[in-house]
Amino acid sequence: MSELGYEKSYPNATYAPWLVDPDFQTTLAQVAHNTMVDHLRCFELWQLVEQATKLPGDIIEVGVWRGGTGCLMARRAQLLGSPAKVFLCDTFAGVVKAGGKDSIYVGGEHADTSAEIVQGLANMMGLANVELLTGIFPDDTAGRVADRQFSLCHIDVDVYDSARDVLEWVWPRMPVGGIVVYDDYGFDTCSGITRLVNERMAQPGTVALHNLNGHAVIVKTAEVAKPWWKRLLA
Ligand SMILES: C[S@@+](CC[C@H](N)C(=O)[O-])C[C@H]1O[C@@H](n2cnc3c(N)ncnc32)[C@H](O)[C@@H]1O
Repeated sequence: MSELGYEKSYPNATYAPWLVDPDFQTTLAQVAHNTMVDHLRCFELWQLVEQATKLPGDIIEVGVWRGGTGCLMARRAQLLGSPAKVFLCDTFAGVVKAGGKDSIYVGGEHADTSAEIVQGLANMMGLANVELLTGIFPDDTAGRVADRQFSLCHIDVDVYDSARDVLEWVWPRMPVGGIVVYDDYGFDTCSGITRLVNERMAQPGTVALHNLNGHAVIVKTAEVAKPWWKRLLA
């Protein structure tokens, strides 16, 4: 949504902190050619990094493409002096695990990138807090971070099965207060993401927010043990 679109929809909402945050504006300009995500969702990620620094744990993004949102989050963590590492996970070969629950995606989309492009952006921005994990997450690469805790997870993988697998892997590794942000929630191109979030919204130990901007934000409010039969199946 453009700034004009926002102002048209909410003419009395004059509070627009993204316009008067010079660090955000500078960072947005640096990542603008490396992201598909609009400035409002970028600003929400920017703010959520600050919230997440109240918690122990690292930050993880699955679905990096050319590194825009991942490097934006890493810059925010760097500016806050956070010790968190920012893990950026992508196949760098496009979307995987598309299936019958997805409206448009068939697999292989967004392969027009590489780990070198993302590392180049991180280097240009002076981000020493970034680490790339190349391969399908969690299947190929989660083993490298399995002993870590995560305060914030950005899931931008476009399809149901991938998003479900990321969520199920990361959720037990989040402290109470941990935040999961789904991109593309409510977008007609990503019906699988909307379906997944809607299925999980009522789960105990979560508060789910539909932010009406293409984000769903889920906060972990309690540790809820799985029933014994699910633990046996895991
Ligand atoms: C829409 S793009 C990400 C956009 C990015 N966040 C930005 O700033 O524009 C989706 C990405 O998810 C990646 N992807 C999808 N499923 C994945 C999985 N299970 N593991 C790793 N990467 C995945 C694709 O390769 C693609 O680059």
